[in-house]
Amino acid sequence: MKPIHVGLLGLGTVGGGTLTVLTRNRAEIARRAGREILVTKAAVRNLDKARALAPELPLTQNPFEVVDDPDIDIVVELIGGLEPARALVLQAIERGKHVVTANKHLLAKHGNEIFAAAQDKGVMVAFEAAVGGGIPIIKAIREGLTANRIEWIAGIINGTTNYILTEMRDKGASFEDVLKEAQRLGYAEADPTFDVEGIDAAHKLTILSAIAFGIPMQFERAYIEGITRLTGLDVKYAEQLGYRIKLLGITKRTPKGIELRVHPTLIPARRLIANVDGAMNAILVKGDAVGPTLYYGAGAGAEPTASAVVADLVDVTRLSTADPNNRVPHLAFQPDRLAADPILPMGEVETAYYLRMRALDRPGVLADITRLLADADISIDAMMQKEPEEGEEAVDIIILTHAALEKNVDRAIAGIEGLAAISGAVARIRLETLGR
Ligand code: NDP
Ligand code: HSE
Repeated sequence: MKPIHVGLLGLGTVGGGTLTVLTRNRAEIARRAGREILVTKAAVRNLDKARALAPELPLTQNPFEVVDDPDIDIVVELIGGLEPARALVLQAIERGKHVVTANKHLLAKHGNEIFAAAQDKGVMVAFEAAVGGGIPIIKAIREGLTANRIEWIAGIINGTTNYILTEMRDKGASFEDVLKEAQRLGYAEADPTFDVEGIDAAHKLTILSAIAFGIPMQFERAYIEGITRLTGLDVKYAEQLGYRIKLLGITKRTPKGIELRVHPTLIPARRLIANVDGAMNAILVKGDAVGPTLYYGAGAGAEPTASAVVADLVDVTRLSTADPNNRVPHLAFQPDRLAADPILPMGEVETAYYLRMRALDRPGVLADITRLLADADISIDAMMQKEPEEGEEAVDIIILTHAALEKNVDRAIAGIEGLAAISGAVARIRLETLGR
């Protein structure tokens, strides 16, 4: 099937990330979408900078050239700001093209006009990347929680301010220094006052509120307070009282109307959301049937945001590829594109281990144990030998290993259990750090 042609408006942090992810995962994405997704043209201001990133890609300084190109099926708006983004999106819709955008500012201000135009033309405007970076929160609320009457949403939805608050608290860094670092890392908006004054969070909250409660976008009604008036003193006193301060976006349905507010908020330190640090975002959604649900992930940055942009591209592509009765394939990949990768037998699985054994407290026992582990190619991360209990000759030895093959660990355990100085079975618990 003919590839889908994508025109990128903007090749900055998110545009560059989108191109990288589409290129690196090209084959896997095509297996999911049913067609290849190719970026065929991009619009930027600075051609030299863009050429260094994408030497082969046709570039233009006129974004309307991309929107008007009859060979382009989907326009991805990653320029940011209101104009010319609004005019470009409306023109793409007018030309019958689907649009993907990460521009929460544009949607919060002009979403009502844009969605009405898209409805008229029968095209999609997809915006998963506009809220929560890589977290699929739009899909979760619009599809996964569709049975619920949503009662409230509360979220850390600005990565820059969360990063600033975390670095100031943990490292005592200055506001100005951390903001500069957030800009360097590509988290901040072109105008960072949008981040620190809570405006970006209010743009995102406006979108969340609309899809949660079925109301039009009403950004101008939001109450907005940023983090610039927060003092280190308040952060310290809040901690002493058992709270953390986070910039929260809160929208709640009440009998009198809908709350729509962004402000620094004290949250009990034991709550999961109080421990969301750095540029990570987390959004709590309370539905009447499901209760509270929590969505967590990278809220800003090139590839996390690109993850959401590409997800929208796949959704739009599936409109024109898939079996209309099964637009989203049952197993996520197109049925004729399933792979033959084998499921590994447990012996071939690699993980780290906690091993506990009871051994006689005699010279040479530890050496025997470590030799058996080394012979099985298992390296030790940490070891602890407990003091013998009063009148006891045996002690507990606890070993943490680095990642090792399960079949090697089986072999080592069998050897250790065969030592005369070992009594009983070796307890084994697998250990996963779940980090990078
Ligand atoms: P950048 O400033 O990094 O990139 C903007 C891109 O748009 C650049 O390539 C710039 O070109 C180009 N551009 C700007 N104006 C024009 C114009 N008039 N004509 C042609 N090209 C133009 O922004 P981001 O990638 O950070 O953000 C893009 C969008 O994504 C924004 O709406 C932002 O709010 C949103 N977003 C950003 C996230 C992030 O983590 N950064 C996360 C989620 C959403 P040049 O470089 O040549 O000037
Ligand atoms: N400036 C935004 C943030 C980018 O820091 O969260 C992601 O929307």
